[in-house]
Amino acid sequence: MTRWRTIHDLPTPALLLDWPAARHNILAATHLVRGKTARLRPHFKSHKCVPLAKEQLAAGNCCGITAATLDEAAALVDGGVNDVLLANQLIGAQKLSRLVELSKRTTVRACVDSSDNASAMSAEAIRQGARVGVLAEIKIAPKRWGLPPGDEAVAFVRQIAALPGLRFDGLQAYYGGLAHLHDAAERDECALRSMELAVDTRHRIEAAGIACPILSGAGTGTFWAVLDLPGVTELQLGSYVLMDWDFQTRTGDRFQIALSVLATVISASGDEFVLDVGVKGLGNKLGPPRLLGQQGYEVLRYAAEEHTVVGLPGHRLKVGDRLRVLPSHAGCTAHLYRQFVVHEGNSVRDLWPISATGYDLTTAEAP
Ligand SMILES: Cc1ncc(COP(=O)(O)O)c(C=O)c1O
Repeated sequence: MTRWRTIHDLPTPALLLDWPAARHNILAATHLVRGKTARLRPHFKSHKCVPLAKEQLAAGNCCGITAATLDEAAALVDGGVNDVLLANQLIGAQKLSRLVELSKRTTVRACVDSSDNASAMSAEAIRQGARVGVLAEIKIAPKRWGLPPGDEAVAFVRQIAALPGLRFDGLQAYYGGLAHLHDAAERDECALRSMELAVDTRHRIEAAGIACPILSGAGTGTFWAVLDLPGVTELQLGSYVLMDWDFQTRTGDRFQIALSVLATVISASGDEFVLDVGVKGLGNKLGPPRLLGQQGYEVLRYAAEEHTVVGLPGHRLKVGDRLRVLPSHAGCTAHLYRQFVVHEGNSVRDLWPISATGYDLTTAEAP
């Protein structure tokens, strides 16, 4: 329970999670993979909220959670999530030490695409008497990174599979910017073709006598293109649970917008008004925010730190009125807050903490 019964009582800006919409998204993704071989591995970076990750897992058809940073992985492990893929390269002694420590508590895998990094990870695992699962990252699309798919990746896998302290578990293959292609047919085609490169690499690794149980990748904008592709085992959807208007323009209304920011009109004159939230409470990765339930407005200034200036001819808004603002990219908004206000209509259901925000030196191991 919270001390706020309705969203009207909240101080602003406040980060709202529309629970029926989020629940719809969770169930829709769960339903889409029913009967398929691939499982969901929702990406935590989109919301950084452990209770929400647990709802995603509880809905079923998931094999674990994806994380982008060590702090995210630690928040998940501390929160009781027992299968985390750190879909990133961890470079340097401090990070490797922390990774190995986490992996001793539960399944925490990381990605590698360089021999030096793999050797350093192996040495740290041996030092700590542990064995860390790794995925070799392959580059399946432009503007992404990793090893070239095919024989070069197989040669790398041969090396790392032989390293003590490491357990080769499979391939990481994410196609990055492809998810943002606007033409749906082109996006699906590119996603499918790139993921086929990963499937082919997986087959080559297995033909070389090395088990390759995992092939993990895909995202909200593209996962259905590879849903029926044999050989893909995990889908790393992130944005689908919160959604935003930018994703909706590309993926339709399969998923509903669950994230908004509640803001207050702090000044109104003529055809303009000002809201008490700016780029520090909205993010601005993909352009200006939209206003829920308003038509004919123009966001005149959205990159101010704590304000948004809106033009709306003939508006009747008064100082103190509340509006719900829809950021362009939900994944660059949630981390700006310390909690989600979980609501159903106007009723506040709960507050859920947001973890692993900011970059915290106090979590790092002493060198
Ligand atoms: C490694 C990785 N996997 C998956 C995703 C998919 O996220 P989303 O579903 O939000 O596009 C991303 C997003 O950038 C990513 O970096």
